[in-house]
Amino acid sequence: MHSSRFSSNVAKAIGVLLMTATLSTQAQSQKVVIAHRGASGYLPEHTLQAKAMAFAMGADYIEQDVVMTSDDQLIVLHDITLDRTTDVAERFPDRIRDDGRYYAIDFTLAEIRLLRASEGFEIENGEKMQGYANRFPMGQSTFSVPTLAEEIELIQGMNKSMGKNVGIYPEIKGPEFHREAGKDISTAVVRMLKSYGYTSKQDKMFLQTFSFEELKIIHDEIFPAEGVDLNLVQLIGGESSYPWIFEEDGMERLSAYADGVGPEKGLVVSRDSKKTNILVSDFVARAHAAGMQVHPYTYRLDPGQVPTYADSYEDLLDIHLFRADIDGVFTDFPDRAVDFLRNK
Ligand code: G3P
Ligand code: CA
Repeated sequence: MHSSRFSSNVAKAIGVLLMTATLSTQAQSQKVVIAHRGASGYLPEHTLQAKAMAFAMGADYIEQDVVMTSDDQLIVLHDITLDRTTDVAERFPDRIRDDGRYYAIDFTLAEIRLLRASEGFEIENGEKMQGYANRFPMGQSTFSVPTLAEEIELIQGMNKSMGKNVGIYPEIKGPEFHREAGKDISTAVVRMLKSYGYTSKQDKMFLQTFSFEELKIIHDEIFPAEGVDLNLVQLIGGESSYPWIFEEDGMERLSAYADGVGPEKGLVVSRDSKKTNILVSDFVARAHAAGMQVHPYTYRLDPGQVPTYADSYEDLLDIHLFRADIDGVFTDFPDRAVDFLRNK
């Protein structure tokens, strides 16, 4: 009798353990790692090399920031200017605008192909100073600015050769800036995505932008005109960007257009948090209640980039992914986030 009750209790305990393990695996498998500008912690951002590395590291999605050239070609570049990540100032000194910047939209693709890309830098006292000192050394090896088509083909090619389904996560940069210059970058991006087979919400792709006005145009006009219906993400830089989103029905209103939100990570866990007092906002709960996923940015482990309320990069991920319950992270260090989720 005693022995059979013991056996039954053991069986129940094993059952609970198995169920917990299954639920835990399911929950974790839904959390995704988005390689922010590729594996940009290790190789210059938005180069094909950084994208191939992110793929090999096991990222679920790889991000592309997209801008347009003077001849309407889509290139993968974070800034609407070429100054920070290329040698444009040396190669085309006379193409500087009055504000001291070199705009990608002033250059043809053929000209942009002549540029060398590098780790990001600023000019200080006439010297190029690398933004993240510990990252890939500026001026070493040879990198270039890819087109969106080249990058999609790289990722789709590796998906085929490696039997995987890594997603893409393009962001339309400066939509209003492009419109003022007579260019409809959003339609061009949507058409390109469609030409590479991204047509429905089932496709492993999120299209993101900081502009709610543009998100509405994409959702209400461009998608119907092009006959596609893709996953859309509204990026949010701070509470002042779109105050109505933080009102009681804000997430519900946003969810009429967006499938997900990409907030700056301080909107999810307050920067005023202490190790003994982690302040999780209601942002994620409200977005989830409205049926949207939450993919905050940007998780980095360079010196000074892990907030003081976390013990380490992994502790930061733990707090955000499992205490705040976000659905994925934009990170420059996808290998560490992939390992963290695998080992959790
Ligand atoms: O798109 C998510 C994140 O990349 C937003 O910040 O400035 O790096 O494009 P940014
Ligand atoms: Ca981005």
